[in-house]
Amino acid sequence: MSVKILAIESSCDDTGAAVLVDGKILSNRIANQQVHEQYGGVIPELASRAHQENIVPVVDIALQTAGVKPEELSAIAFTQSPGLIGSLLVGSCFAKSMAMALDIPLIGVHHMQAHVLANFIDDPKPSFPFLCLTVSGGHTQIVLCESPLQMRVIGETLDDAAGEAFDKSAKILGLPYPGGPLIDKYAKEGNPARFKFPEPRIPELNFSFSGLKTAILYFLQENQQKDPSFITSNLADICASIQQRIITILLNKVLKASQETGVKDIAIAGGVSANSGLRQALQEYGEKHGWRTFIPKFEYCTDNAGMIAITAYYKYLAGEFASLDAVPTARAAF
Ligand code: KG4
Ligand code: ZN
Repeated sequence: MSVKILAIESSCDDTGAAVLVDGKILSNRIANQQVHEQYGGVIPELASRAHQENIVPVVDIALQTAGVKPEELSAIAFTQSPGLIGSLLVGSCFAKSMAMALDIPLIGVHHMQAHVLANFIDDPKPSFPFLCLTVSGGHTQIVLCESPLQMRVIGETLDDAAGEAFDKSAKILGLPYPGGPLIDKYAKEGNPARFKFPEPRIPELNFSFSGLKTAILYFLQENQQKDPSFITSNLADICASIQQRIITILLNKVLKASQETGVKDIAIAGGVSANSGLRQALQEYGEKHGWRTFIPKFEYCTDNAGMIAITAYYKYLAGEFASLDAVPTARAAF
């Protein structure tokens, strides 16, 4: 009998629903929340209200697109952690109600593990063991993956995440939230060698981005004082130079991790892996150092329910189910 899973993602500000049949994603729908843009960041209370409005239509359309009826489903999966607790509660309550009504198993998924397994949605897939650089708005991790459900964080950020480094830099430049994609856009027209920002010396495989943010702030303040149109007349070069530094901080640590572990299958995941400069630089590092590199399709990089569905599929095969009293948590290791 085939395995049909409905997966729900509601960890932050996007409501996602996906349907998977026998390891293949048949639909992957997302409702973005525009309401946060005016505040320059995600407002948790507004996010949970918007999830409540969006969840029924998004699930409906995911099932319709996949041509799967609720009564055909084998299990319901949901993001259990980490994330905004109010947002997680909306997704988990919905998933539990549906699992209870249909009398089918419930599967709780770790959002960061799911970002890594987004690399298993399409072919070619990495071989085990592989390293994954997971870079999102809340996390920056190097993960050593031994099997789909066995992975270990071997390096992580000590302060800001890579996505925050993009978004906070964008904010200093006066760009709207989330600024990461905008820095990417302007960087395409700019010269990444024009301005030099420092690379922090952080021990082992860990990262730090707070010093970079301060360096950017002082650099811009100083130049704006001399020339009030400095940012507007140099925007593309500034964005390209900031992006270049974030990318080299990330990939130099991945290089170190690869040298220390001997692992040469390298994947990236998370919202920041949508960055075109990072995607290109990963290919270049790969060619230079003999890596096989893996990048999920764009729609599976930023938050999505497809990655929750593929993780749930491996959990289903392993018999790892959640009980109806499973509690979502804002923070959790995997
Ligand atoms: O994984 P994600 O969608 O949500 C979290 O779980 O955090 O990541 C969101 C982050 C934001 O910081 C956003 O600015 C960043 O990913 N991001 C990008 C790009 N697209 C999304 N950063 C740089 N370049 C992009 N193209
Ligand atoms: Zn995420």
